[in-house]
Amino acid sequence: MTELTAAEHEPLLEYPAESAALSKAERLLELRKRVGLLLEGETDWLANLGNAAAEIYAWLPNLNWAGWYLLRGGELVLGPFQGRPACVRIQVGRGVCGTAVSTGESQVVQDVNDFPGHIACDVRSKSELVVPVKVKGQVVAVLDLDSSATANFDEEDRVGLEALIADLVPLVDWERATSS
Ligand code: SME
Repeated sequence: MTELTAAEHEPLLEYPAESAALSKAERLLELRKRVGLLLEGETDWLANLGNAAAEIYAWLPNLNWAGWYLLRGGELVLGPFQGRPACVRIQVGRGVCGTAVSTGESQVVQDVNDFPGHIACDVRSKSELVVPVKVKGQVVAVLDLDSSATANFDEEDRVGLEALIADLVPLVDWERATSS
């Protein structure tokens, strides 16, 4: 059997041509629709968060990680994701994810090296977008997107992903998702 080179061994990033052909605004809107259709009619939180992470990972450019951290017992615990294995537990207030929880605000990080306390799960990550998920004003989870490109995310991405999360909140059983 021939051994794969490192490049061949990398998982394929299925970034479809139909997504690449769209403007960023169109791409974010289309992603919202696709995630809504995937989750519609299904009540299993694990299936829904898994499918949402997979669709986001496939549909947005330059991602090397996309997934959820769930607030369980006062700390963030790794949820469904796409990408390389990641840190399992993150304290509130630590790293980009923990900061999104403690501030209740999305974090757009152009260069992770400039973010004090950034937690490097994957050395390929250069920029990051973390969006808190709120139910009745309380943070229950975060969506974490990592990119191997510096400054991959901007305000348009933040607004688009926040809208996607607002659509998704009623489609997930957060009580079950956050029970340890
Ligand atoms: N970089 C994150 C940790 C999670 S991984 O990127 C998947 C942080 O600083 O919180």
